[in-house]
Amino acid sequence: SHRIMLGPLVAAIDQGTSSTRFLVFNSKTAELLSHHQVEIKQSFPKEGWVEEDPKEILQSVYECMERTCEKLTQLNIDITNIKAIGVTNQRETTLVWDKETGEPLYNAIVWLDLRTQSTVERLINKTPGRNKNHLKHKTGLPISTYFSAVKLRWLMDNVAEVHEAIVSHRAMFGTVDSWLIWCLTGGKSGGVHCTDVTNASRTMLFNIHTMDWDPELCKYFGIPMEILPRVRSSSEIYGLMKSGELSGVPISGCLGDQSAALVGQMCFQDGQAKNTYGTGCFLLRNTGAKPVMSDHGLLTTVAYKLGRDKPACYALEGSVAIAGAVVRWLQDNLGIISSSEELEKLAASVCTSYGCYFVPAFSGLYAPYWEPSARGIICGLTQFTNKSHLAFAALEAVCFQTREILDAMNQDSGIPLTQLQVDGGMTSNRLLMQLQADILCIPVVKPSMPETTALGAAMAAGAAEGVSVWSLNPEDLTEVTSEKFEPQINPEESEYRYARWKKAVQKSMNWET
Ligand code: G3P
Repeated sequence: SHRIMLGPLVAAIDQGTSSTRFLVFNSKTAELLSHHQVEIKQSFPKEGWVEEDPKEILQSVYECMERTCEKLTQLNIDITNIKAIGVTNQRETTLVWDKETGEPLYNAIVWLDLRTQSTVERLINKTPGRNKNHLKHKTGLPISTYFSAVKLRWLMDNVAEVHEAIVSHRAMFGTVDSWLIWCLTGGKSGGVHCTDVTNASRTMLFNIHTMDWDPELCKYFGIPMEILPRVRSSSEIYGLMKSGELSGVPISGCLGDQSAALVGQMCFQDGQAKNTYGTGCFLLRNTGAKPVMSDHGLLTTVAYKLGRDKPACYALEGSVAIAGAVVRWLQDNLGIISSSEELEKLAASVCTSYGCYFVPAFSGLYAPYWEPSARGIICGLTQFTNKSHLAFAALEAVCFQTREILDAMNQDSGIPLTQLQVDGGMTSNRLLMQLQADILCIPVVKPSMPETTALGAAMAAGAAEGVSVWSLNPEDLTEVTSEKFEPQINPEESEYRYARWKKAVQKSMNWET
């Protein structure tokens, strides 16, 4: 049989909180040709702790690559046409490894993890006026359990191996992107220790104005700068794959997953926004060349820098910790569903929560509250309430949380969004999409190709200097087809439910204090 000629292909590794994917796109048409996905185990060793195994993460990447290459070969597609690989990843998740043995020194501490809550409270108490925004002028972020610096501090203070490796200059710190790129480019025999500006901007050690690690921030958290990766742009050749069938292919794109989705949704203009429903839910709005500081509990973050000599673009971000994770919780912890499809069916069977509100503040509340001591609550129950109502309330919770960050975003920018571009796993739930439009009172627009995060990373990789098989000129980019959900309930009904939700949120707060 003969090989199909397609022109240059570009691949992406998408390492999310719940799963890893490898995807291959045609750089001429942005068509997704093949992919493979592997779930990632999360462990919860103590209440509030969330960890993943760095080696399992790496292994899952290799497995996805191998399986995708097999599938392409079966499709008669020549894998030597893969010209570049982009990396996109769950952000903030913190790893330390030994550069001489190549071994991780502890599990990865996942972004959702709450073990640093007391450290965070102590740090805030030390600031003038107990101000959680004390470091915001440099980092764009509030002091919170969410970001890497406090997790890294915990590792230094509580894991003897980490402490010893630092003392003997063998330690390397990184977020998941750094770990993967280091391993894939050779690991202990010459791997490249780097990160990109978007991932760096989530550590709390990075100055988003100077676009570099900040000595004062590092001193504040007591972190030695020599363990930090080199900060690069989001689109340049970092190194070459060192093993496997794709050996020799450049790794030339790197973006945190939320930034990658912004790129994949082609939100290159100031004011454009997207909301991604993954484990959590993240609404990012491009603010162009200037970092805009929020007065309403949003983060200021680096959106992307697509080339060494290209300017950086910034974004305002509303982060919700628990979105898809609530589905997994209903499934694994309560056992009331056995799949996410079943959740949709259950919720659709009643199409109301009958006054039941579910605030899934499992990891405290993120934007716009930043309240680590909040905990999940389910309220408004009667003897009439059943699991279908609870299922509906869980979906509604995702929509209400998005409404809260959209409101904050509109207040900060003064220009309300007239529709919401969405993507991510949960967007296949049509009931959720309709509910979202109803609760926001604006249309929700979903691209027909849902893998926008991977697409963004692939675009960055393909556009890198020295690869140049993908143009990022908006005029050259392929039009994406999309589906639109229009609001169907009246705004008064929507406001009433939203007001009840806010009441429930108040009840979830300060639970731990
Ligand atoms: O900040 C965490 C975020 O990057 C995780 O994304 O898709 O795994 O929920 P996701």
